[in-house]
Amino acid sequence: MAIIIEDSVFTLQTKNSTYQMKADDKGILLHTYYGKRTDATDYSYLVSMADRGFSGNIYEAREDRTYSLDFLPQEFPVCGSGDYRVNCLHADLGEGVNDCLMFFDSYRTYHGKYALEGLPAMFSTEEEAVDTLEIVLKDNQEAFYLHLLYGVFEEHDIITRAAVIENRTDREIRLHKVLSGCLDMDHDGMDLIHFYGKHAGERQMERVSLFHGITELRSTRGTSSHQHNPFVILADQKASEDMGECFGFSLLYSGGFHMQAEVDQFHQTRLVMGIDDCDFTWSLLPGETFVAPELAMGYSGEGLAKLSHCYHDSFHGHLIRSFWKEKRRPILVNNWEATYFDFNADKLLQIAREAADLELDMLVLDDGWFGKRDNDDAGLGDWFVNEKKLGGTIQELADKVNGMGLMFGLWFEPEMISEDSDLYRQHPDWAMVVPGRNPIRGRAQLVLDMGREEVLSYIKERLFAILDAANIQYIKWDMNRSVAAAYSALLPRERQGEQRHRYVLGLYHVLEALLERYPNLLLEGCSGGGGRFDAGMLYYAPQIWCSDNTDAVERLHIQYGTSFGYPMSSVAAHVSVCPNHQNGRVTPFKTRGVCAMQGAFGYELDLSKLSEEEKAEAKEQVRTFKKHYKLFQFGDYYRLTSPLLNRDFTAWEYVDKTGKEAILSVVYTDLHGNPAANTVKFRGLCPQVIYQMWRDKEPAGEYTGAALMNGGVLLPVPVENYDSCQIYIRQKE
Ligand code: GLA
Repeated sequence: MAIIIEDSVFTLQTKNSTYQMKADDKGILLHTYYGKRTDATDYSYLVSMADRGFSGNIYEAREDRTYSLDFLPQEFPVCGSGDYRVNCLHADLGEGVNDCLMFFDSYRTYHGKYALEGLPAMFSTEEEAVDTLEIVLKDNQEAFYLHLLYGVFEEHDIITRAAVIENRTDREIRLHKVLSGCLDMDHDGMDLIHFYGKHAGERQMERVSLFHGITELRSTRGTSSHQHNPFVILADQKASEDMGECFGFSLLYSGGFHMQAEVDQFHQTRLVMGIDDCDFTWSLLPGETFVAPELAMGYSGEGLAKLSHCYHDSFHGHLIRSFWKEKRRPILVNNWEATYFDFNADKLLQIAREAADLELDMLVLDDGWFGKRDNDDAGLGDWFVNEKKLGGTIQELADKVNGMGLMFGLWFEPEMISEDSDLYRQHPDWAMVVPGRNPIRGRAQLVLDMGREEVLSYIKERLFAILDAANIQYIKWDMNRSVAAAYSALLPRERQGEQRHRYVLGLYHVLEALLERYPNLLLEGCSGGGGRFDAGMLYYAPQIWCSDNTDAVERLHIQYGTSFGYPMSSVAAHVSVCPNHQNGRVTPFKTRGVCAMQGAFGYELDLSKLSEEEKAEAKEQVRTFKKHYKLFQFGDYYRLTSPLLNRDFTAWEYVDKTGKEAILSVVYTDLHGNPAANTVKFRGLCPQVIYQMWRDKEPAGEYTGAALMNGGVLLPVPVENYDSCQIYIRQKE
């Protein structure tokens, strides 16, 4: 077992990391170690105690003025304990008790991984078992319990955690904040790496040094958001791609989140993360529990690439459940940028015919096929096929597409409602609008109350009716605005603070029901591009539309940022037309393919308008993706350059797990007269192996792995703006 327990010391061991806690003599659960794998020594000897001015002492410390939660490293710090740093829990126990103080009560361990009711969670598999530790804390006076759950993914250096609150008192408890976890470190000098952004510019990597005070990130938008991502890294200031310690924190949650990192008065660092607590309240009645979402913590002592591999592999093996996960992802063409709302069956079939010629796998019909939906002002909620526009039933269309040897996929935006829709006319109170007040519109639409049973039933009934009517193998599940007023007509005033979380639970409920009924369905997540790109979504959707920005060069940044915490097979990326619809940039067709092959590959343009030369290039791209899909989907991914630091080119690489073959891709982002020679070094190869090399499919010599990793490869000189190149190597037979 990966869990060792001795004298109230709990040590969790993964292949390369150790995590330790201790219930001390007062019953406080201290955090004593997280880092490089070591033994199960009781590391609480490192905790220093002193009488520190103005740091209060809990009553249980009696006369001991050196014992203060204001500086002790803790597993789950709570509000009101005399710890003035950021914390994880704020509970109003009633009758004036606004604070709680949690003490060790009991523990249990078992083989297998805990699950979380109604929420996504990583799981164990037959091949790779996982162990669970559950520690129970209890308030010193009330029957108020906190279950801290730990899942140890030994092979992947991932430790998951979650918190379950239980009310065993006989009165209502009001929760104002329940975060998922905390990490206390005994030092400062850490960098925070995070991923900020905007619509059409998600997950821009930024690295900042933490300072004395609080750095915080949050989304209050009802989704994980374009603006901040619920994945962050604490990295040693010297850590780089291939060296140094780094710690990852990925929240498996698709709603608003909150992350705070604080460096305190004694130069200690604390990070807490969980559901956004802004406006959050939850009434916990006697006998009820509240489950906070899972936080997956990762450790690497060998830099950021290794940390990314921990997340890529563990999410692939233990989070993504799709029927599609081991299969080659279908290469699809989506009609959105090709037609927007202006299409009919002939147009769609014309695109499909071209797609079949180019040997693509699927046609995806995007927005505009239902209700009265010829622009984005109307129709959301009316999930009835517009047979006039499609010139027949959805089944007829799907059959024709299938007849060309293609699969058929469909876009939905089930969480939304247009004011100009039959659904709104029938059920205005299903929208989250405060009675008597004007709503905040977003893209001229309102958000449905996903906390409401009849709304969920309606969505399921409509989705199932359409999926039952035709052979639909893929759904793009979209969500195109932020939640503003999180109001539910069903909840009393004092419970409105529950609505944001109830919304997310409702969403997860429908997604689960959908996959249960159609287990072979390929679900692609989307929220105005990548506004809900989080590990919670990956539990349902193995791929997520990464951004509405399809420009190859901007995608270099977006996909670079996304790669830190998410497997590349989840990053949906398409070749689109030029000048690009988002920024007007012109890039070579070849380069657009190289960038899109970085993730789940497809096209998003009118294939019938391609020139003969472009068609030939597209055929070549399709062949390349099909031939090397195992590398692209399951290989180890290396960021070889950073688009933030190297202005001339961006390079990345996939190596198969045995090191026998690899693909290195380069996109030039600047041109120079009299250009300097550029080299780039492969990573992850076998030093002794001799590799044969092909540069853009042309033989380019033989080299040892050692030469390619230490000397590198000389890159061809770019011949046009945004030129690109793919270098493939394979072990010589
Ligand atoms: C969002 C998506 C796009 C497209 C449109 C349709 O913006 O990100 O890909 O599906 O909605 O309205």
